[in-house]
Amino acid sequence: MDQPIGVIDSGVGGLTVASELMRQLPKEQLIYIGDTFRCPYGPRSKEEVVTYTWEMVNFLLAKDIKMLVVACNTATAFALDQLHSQLDIPVIGVIEPGARAAIKVSQNQRIGVIGTEGTIESKAYPKALKTIHSTIQVNDLACPRFVPMVEEGILSGPEANRVVAESLMPLKMKNHIDTLILGCTHYPLIRDRIQEVIGDHVSIISSGEETAREVSAILGYKEKLFNGDRTPDHQFYTTGRLDVFKRIASNWLEQPIVVENAVLNK
Ligand code: DGL
Repeated sequence: MDQPIGVIDSGVGGLTVASELMRQLPKEQLIYIGDTFRCPYGPRSKEEVVTYTWEMVNFLLAKDIKMLVVACNTATAFALDQLHSQLDIPVIGVIEPGARAAIKVSQNQRIGVIGTEGTIESKAYPKALKTIHSTIQVNDLACPRFVPMVEEGILSGPEANRVVAESLMPLKMKNHIDTLILGCTHYPLIRDRIQEVIGDHVSIISSGEETAREVSAILGYKEKLFNGDRTPDHQFYTTGRLDVFKRIASNWLEQPIVVENAVLNK
């Protein structure tokens, strides 16, 4: 019960899920790893993403995690089924929670999805949405420039505004959507830019909140929630630059954090 929850992402994006976990489950300890060195995963092949995901998972398994949160849509789209079938701890991805949250909010059943090339090409969101509601209309769009920009720490200002406006143009032309899923965990870091461009009439969904709720429900059901009293000592690892990760993470989580380098092995 006092074991940590493992959280993985290709970089800093999973912090948007980690912050929700910290808010909803304040006594749980997190171990986070971002594979910043090999980020972005979006343009990579399925084989590469699956291999890198397993390397992060093995790193966390060695730290005795009680549950795995795949806080990366691309890794969820490509590796979740395999992780589910091969791990004996609970595993959750971010796509189904995001799809469920969007269906709850949409009034007109027309939902937009933005994500990496890998996530959009996998069609994981349309599949998840149509499984819940077969008549839903989905407009999906890859936004490959967002992740590299966020990883550089460019979250606002003229460049961020321009990249977001240019990237979302095709979706704006089909502006009948009333709900937009941020199908990449990096995107909540530029949520305000996205909202400005897409307009206030569109509800924006990021899967972090719903994912954290489901983590809480799963651990509760399995009687694995930590039920003592503590201020958890979260651990953060990156395969890339410590200074950039630390700056983005401290700002997003609104607390000073300690980050260490991780070396991943096959
Ligand atoms: N945060 C990852 C996701 O949710 C970004 C993937 C990437 O590195 O391109 O898809």
